[in-house]
Amino acid sequence: MINRKTLLELGWILPSIAIPVGMLVAVIVSAFGMMIHVPSDEGTILPAAIDSTPPFDQPGVLRQVGPNQYEVAIVAQIWVFNPREIRVPAGAEVTFVATSRDVIHGLDIEGTNVNVMLIPGRITRQNAIFKEPGVYRFVCHEYCGAGHHLMFGQIIVEEP
Ligand code: CUA
Repeated sequence: MINRKTLLELGWILPSIAIPVGMLVAVIVSAFGMMIHVPSDEGTILPAAIDSTPPFDQPGVLRQVGPNQYEVAIVAQIWVFNPREIRVPAGAEVTFVATSRDVIHGLDIEGTNVNVMLIPGRITRQNAIFKEPGVYRFVCHEYCGAGHHLMFGQIIVEEP
């Protein structure tokens, strides 16, 4: 026979088990079912070798890797992005391959899921699909010194 006190206890205990189990299931479903991941570490690079290592030897050059799929390299350094302007056709899926030459910078592109750290010695990859023509600004969002606020640029998405 379950008395009132036991019911009250169960009323607390069961949700406190169900809520973390539900959150665990949500994490597993989003990671393995929907393939949502944090941007991954895509390898290492010596900052001194950036200028001679593809794709960073040609920053800003759009390379077509598939039907309406492109890849573009970005190099961040104090206090500028190279390039500051990238032009892509509307509907394009663009993979940004980026690194930093000196200190930790960030890359945040408005209206997209690109929101990554650029760490010297490491390569970061993140892709985004630009459905609508327009201007998408990007900024450095890791404080990197006196000129941090000067680190910005834009992606111009053109009518195909
Ligand atoms: Cu680069 Cu802040």
